[in-house]
Amino acid sequence: MASDKVSIHGAWASRWVFILAATGSAVGLGNIWKFPYMTGMYGGGAFVMMYLVCIFLVGLPIMLAETLIGRRGRQSPVNTLKTLAIESGASPKWSWAALMGMIAALLILSFYSVVAGWSLDYILGMGRGQFSGVTADGAGAAFGALTADPWRLTLWHTLFMLLTGFVIARGVVAGLERSLRIMMPLLFVLLLILLGYSMTTGYFMQGFHFLFDFQPDKLLDGVLAAMGHAFFTLSVGVGSIMVYGAYMPKNASIGGTILTVGILDTLVALTAGLALFPIVFAGGMEPGAGPGLMFVTLPVAFGNIAFGQIMGTVFFILVLIAAWTSSISMLEPAVAYLVERTRRSRVVVTSVLALLCWIVGMGTVLSFNIAAEAKFFVFADDGFHLFQWGAEGGRNFFDSIDYLTSRILLPLGGLAFAVFAGWVLKREAVRDELALKSPLLFGVVYWLIRVVAPIGVLIVFVAELMK
Ligand code: PFF
Repeated sequence: MASDKVSIHGAWASRWVFILAATGSAVGLGNIWKFPYMTGMYGGGAFVMMYLVCIFLVGLPIMLAETLIGRRGRQSPVNTLKTLAIESGASPKWSWAALMGMIAALLILSFYSVVAGWSLDYILGMGRGQFSGVTADGAGAAFGALTADPWRLTLWHTLFMLLTGFVIARGVVAGLERSLRIMMPLLFVLLLILLGYSMTTGYFMQGFHFLFDFQPDKLLDGVLAAMGHAFFTLSVGVGSIMVYGAYMPKNASIGGTILTVGILDTLVALTAGLALFPIVFAGGMEPGAGPGLMFVTLPVAFGNIAFGQIMGTVFFILVLIAAWTSSISMLEPAVAYLVERTRRSRVVVTSVLALLCWIVGMGTVLSFNIAAEAKFFVFADDGFHLFQWGAEGGRNFFDSIDYLTSRILLPLGGLAFAVFAGWVLKREAVRDELALKSPLLFGVVYWLIRVVAPIGVLIVFVAELMK
């Protein structure tokens, strides 16, 4: 029998709202900003190939696992895992996995807010026509000037965090559904227009080959990065999808829903890649340029097409919205947990958590300018240093938080959730929640959750250690 628990935080009106919310969470800066720049840094096709494998064999099964756990428990991830573990006769310490995920989500939010803030700056810049006729060098210089200015970054970071806190404090259902219905399709349309532009650059095929050429020798280069990104882009491993699952109607089918979300997310990322790389090559830019990639290539495109000023402005508004619908899902697991635990209002809990994330985010703001030389996790000739100013190599604050969350915490969280759904919950419980008509299909999906996804995560970790 399906679980008959009820969430105290509210519920989605229908399966569609869950799809919107989960797609809103999944489609974000990860698709439009991070995927292209990571593909550039890890050399192209091999990365894309590993990313796709990780999405379908590991990411989607874990997303299913999270959704069904969430819907069965109907509380914040921490309390859901605790309750379900006790009901299944396992240790309540399973909730630690959700606690770790919750912290990872807050850490992600801290830097996500800074980058989303860049799009606020670009909305203004585009609107004012600052990029009309811009060259690749000019766009690069504009991006450099933005990141070099801690005050400007702080302003936008603060504003974005306020936007995120505002929606969460009011409750998710009311505000978001309406905007998502309009914005997500529009984002797609604009991406397709950009794709159209990239076809006119004369470098489309070069971009295409860069993304899709199979390079067996490079396959292992970025495998941990690819897996980490698969988790990041699907928002799994942190409890965001789990908490959204907790608000899902009882009778909605989970399987088709999750597949829809996964496919939409992948399509947006691939379209963004196909739109961006031809522009990179046409402008003689470096695909491995790092986090600035999208903020340099897109202005070049918009600066040089008809109606670019208006389309560019709209585009960055959509990027902002995509980021916004993702950032609220990072805050929700912790807010739900603290509301359950302290019985304080959402407003109070949200304010405290948003402030915390804002403070940590200031580390990212400064890592692009004043504290660019503050390096963490340095492996030097004289051994390992947790922190060293100006070290060769090592990671600045932003890189460190990104590394810690995407490469370590998300995969570990996902591993724990898959093992929980596959081995701790009773088979009957999983079957009830998934409610798949065909027993064969259930067998395959259950096997993916129980065996393939966990082993996939482990293999990638080992492959990385042995590199
Ligand atoms: N999936 C989001 C993106 O691709 O931008 C990022 C994200 C959202 C990560 C929510 C983690 C999370 F909990």
